[in-house]
Amino acid sequence: MIQMVDLRSQYLRIKNEIDESIQNVLMDSAFIKGTYVASFEKNFGTYLNVDHVVGVGNGTDALQIALMALGIGPGDEVIAPSFTFVATAEAVALLGATPVFADVDPDSFNLTVEAIEPLITDATKAIVPVHLYGQPAEMQPIMQLAERYGLKVIEDCAQAVGSVYQGRAAGTIGDIGTFSFFPSKNLGCFGDGGAVVSNDSELADHCRLIASHGSKKKYHNEVIGVNSRLDGLQAAVLDVKLRHLDNFNARRKRAADLYDTRFAGSEEIIVPARLADRTHVFHQYTIRIAGDSAERRDAISADLKQAGIPHAVYYPIPVHRLPVYTTGTAACRYGDMEHTESATREVISLPMHTELSDTQIDKICAAVLESVHRTSARVIS
Ligand SMILES: Cc1ncc(COP(=O)(O)O)c(C=O)c1O
Repeated sequence: MIQMVDLRSQYLRIKNEIDESIQNVLMDSAFIKGTYVASFEKNFGTYLNVDHVVGVGNGTDALQIALMALGIGPGDEVIAPSFTFVATAEAVALLGATPVFADVDPDSFNLTVEAIEPLITDATKAIVPVHLYGQPAEMQPIMQLAERYGLKVIEDCAQAVGSVYQGRAAGTIGDIGTFSFFPSKNLGCFGDGGAVVSNDSELADHCRLIASHGSKKKYHNEVIGVNSRLDGLQAAVLDVKLRHLDNFNARRKRAADLYDTRFAGSEEIIVPARLADRTHVFHQYTIRIAGDSAERRDAISADLKQAGIPHAVYYPIPVHRLPVYTTGTAACRYGDMEHTESATREVISLPMHTELSDTQIDKICAAVLESVHRTSARVIS
C-alpha cells in the first residue's frame, strides 16, 4: 500500500539498532537528561558542524525558546513567511510579539529580501526564514539584510535537517537554528522532540536555561523559563537515525528525481525548483498545478483520493488569513501576498519517504498525470 509517510518500513530497516538503543535507555532508566541526551546533542552538533545543541521538547518549543533567548516580547515584531506551518507565527504570538508576514518566492516558496525589507520598522527585532519543504531559503541576502538593520535571524529548520546552503548546514547560518524531530520529519523520533542550535555560546546557554525552568542549578531559578526537554528515549532513537540521515535524505532525493523524470513531459505540472548553491532534502515533494485555480487543484486531489493515492495540501490557508491572526491580540501585519496566495491554490504534496519504490512512484505519477489531463480537458471544453 502506498503511504504518505511509511515509518513502519523505515523502522524495520533499522530495527536491531533501534531496539538495542531503546533497551539501553530502559536498562539505565535514563529517561530525562543524562547520557543519551548528551550523546545526541554532541553527535548532532558534529553532524551540523555547530558549537552548541540544546535538545528540547518539540520544534514549536524550539522556536519559542529561541525567541525568548533573543528577548523578544510585547511591542516587538518578527518577520516570517505566511506560507508555512502555523508554529512559526504561533511562537511569536505566544510571547506577545506581533508576527509580520512577508511574501515568498514563487519557485522556492521561501522568504525573499525583496518582500522582507519594506516590512521592517523600528519594532522589528528578528526574521524567521523557514526552509520550506526541505530547501534552504536565500540565507546570504537575508543575513546581509539582517546585519544592515541590526536584526536577529532564527532559521526554522523543522523541514530541512541535513540540507546545506553554500557549504553550511541549514540552521548554522543564522543566530539560532531550530529543529523538529516529529516522527514524520527527515530526522524523526518516536514522539515529540526538537533542538535549538547556535554557534553563539551566550545564546545557547540562555536557550538551555530557558528550556529548564530558567534554572541552571535546581531551585535557583534565574529567569522565567519553560519545561521543554528532549527525553532519553527519543534522544537514543535520534542518535541511531542520525547515522542514517544522509542515506535517508539520499533516498528521498532519488524518489524526487524519479518524480521529476516522470513529470518532465507535462507543462501543467511544475516540479520543485532546485536552486543553486544548496541541497534540497525533500521533506515534501510538492508540485504546483499551473493555472492558479484551487478548484482545479482540488479536483485533482479528489481524483487522487478516488485512486487511493495519498497526498496533502501544505498549506491550503496562509497563516495571515487564519482567524486567530486576523484580529485580537495575535493580529498580524503583512505585505503583498501574491505568491503566497497563489501557492495555496496550486500546491499538492505527493508521498515522500525513504521507503518509496519505483513501482509506487510510477503508480502515483500515472494517477497524477491522468487527473491533470482530465481536468485540463474539462477546463478547455
Ligand atoms: C516549518 C515548521 N515549523 C515548526 C514546526 C513545529 O514542530 P513540532 O511539531 O515539532 O512542534 C513544524 C512541524 O510540524 C514545521 O513544519
